[in-house]
Parts: sequence; C-alpha cells; structure tokens
Amino acid sequence: MTTIVVAMGKNNEIGFENQLLWHLPKDLKHFKELTSGHPIIMGRKTYESIGKPLPNRTNIVISSKKDWFQEGILIVGNIKEALKFSKKIDEDIFIIGGGTIYEQTLDFTDRLEVTIIDVEKEADTFFPKVDLKIWKKIEETCHEPDEKNNLPFCFQTYERIKPLEKI
Ligand SMILES: NC(=O)c1ccc[n+]([C@@H]2O[C@H](COP(=O)([O-])OP(=O)(O)OC[C@H]3O[C@@H](n4cnc5c(N)ncnc54)[C@H](OP(=O)(O)O)[C@@H]3O)[C@@H](O)[C@H]2O)c1
Repeated sequence: MTTIVVAMGKNNEIGFENQLLWHLPKDLKHFKELTSGHPIIMGRKTYESIGKPLPNRTNIVISSKKDWFQEGILIVGNIKEALKFSKKIDEDIFIIGGGTIYEQTLDFTDRLEVTIIDVEKEADTFFPKVDLKIWKKIEETCHEPDEKNNLPFCFQTYERIKPLEKI
C-alpha cells in the first residue's frame, strides 16, 4: 500500500521558505510511528529541509540533479523509479512530501494520513485539494493543545473510493 503522510493547515498550507509551519511533537511522534521500518519517498527540497536521513527507514530522495550525492539516502531521478525501488523493499511505502511530490503522487496513492491543524499560516507550499469524490475519511482523532503542542489538530485517515490510476 502507498500512503501519503502530510500535516496541513486550514488552507492546505504545508511549508514556507523550505520549513514546516509549526512544531507539534505529538505529530512528529505520529509520523515516526507510521513510517518507521518502511521506505519513505521525498523531494530533494524536503530532504534538505530535514537535513539528514531519518533513522530506521530507507530514505528515497527524488532529484533531477546528476551531481548531487548524500550519504545514507537513495537518490532517484523520478517518481516512477522511487516507487519501483521502494516496492522492491516493502509493500508499505510512505510518501512524505513536499508539495511537488504530493501533486505528482496523489493519483497513485491508496491512503492519506493527514494531520489537519486548526490554524491559518502564511505559506508558499500547499497540499492539493482532497477531493471527497475520490477520498473517504475513515478515521479521525482530535487533540486539544497542551504544554508541548500549542495548536489543536486532528489525525485523519482517508481511503480511496475511486480506483487507483496505474503508473
Ligand atoms: N507539512 C508537511 O507535512 C510537509 C511535508 C514535507 C515537506 N513540507 C514542506 O514542503 C516544502 C518543500 O516542498 P517543495 O514542493 O518546495 O519541494 P519538494 O517537493 O520537497 O522537492 C522538490 C524537488 O524534488 C525534485 N523533484 C520533484 N519532482 C521531480 C521529478 N518528477 N523528477 C525529478 N526530480 C523531481 C526536484 O529536485 P531537484 O531540484 O534537485 O531536481 C525538485 O526541486 C518545505 O517547506 C517543507 O517544509 C511539509
């Protein structure tokens, strides 16, 4: 199964100047629990924003740059290659952003793990609109702010209703 993991604000905003828009340790823990042990696919800019390979996961980074190398990650030239490599490693694959990668993979994804944060932030990167004719929300758990997490948010799981497109 291919799953997109994303955290977004009320206007589908996900990033600004190659950084995240909030710091929510509960969301980071949720992300770690979902993705640990599995391949994760990301764009070169998201990788650079994280700054290092995420442990206990095969980090697959998409870039068109021919002369860009980093230790501890697998660099591939396009989405198709990223999916091909990750499917050889595991049947559960996680696509972790950013905006350009979400846009190109949404049609080939089975499931969405969305953290929806009850905030509006200035942003330059957005998640595509979740079309409810294609996606059905099957689970939601909401959290109030606490001493470490300063914003209210909900974890939502969406499953595809419309059949998957083939890549
Ligand atoms: N809130 C969240 O859940 C979340 C998650 C992830 C990221 N983010 C945020 O999103 C922002 C980054 O997203 P972004 O859209 O700017 O960048 P991105 O999608 O992370 O990376 C874009 C780069 O990926 C490579 N790429 C994309 N499609 C490609 C293709 N078809 N073939 C070859 N290479 C391809 C290119 O790298 P080259 O230029 O090297 O060719 C491109 O410049 C940051 O602000 C980050 O913090 C938020």
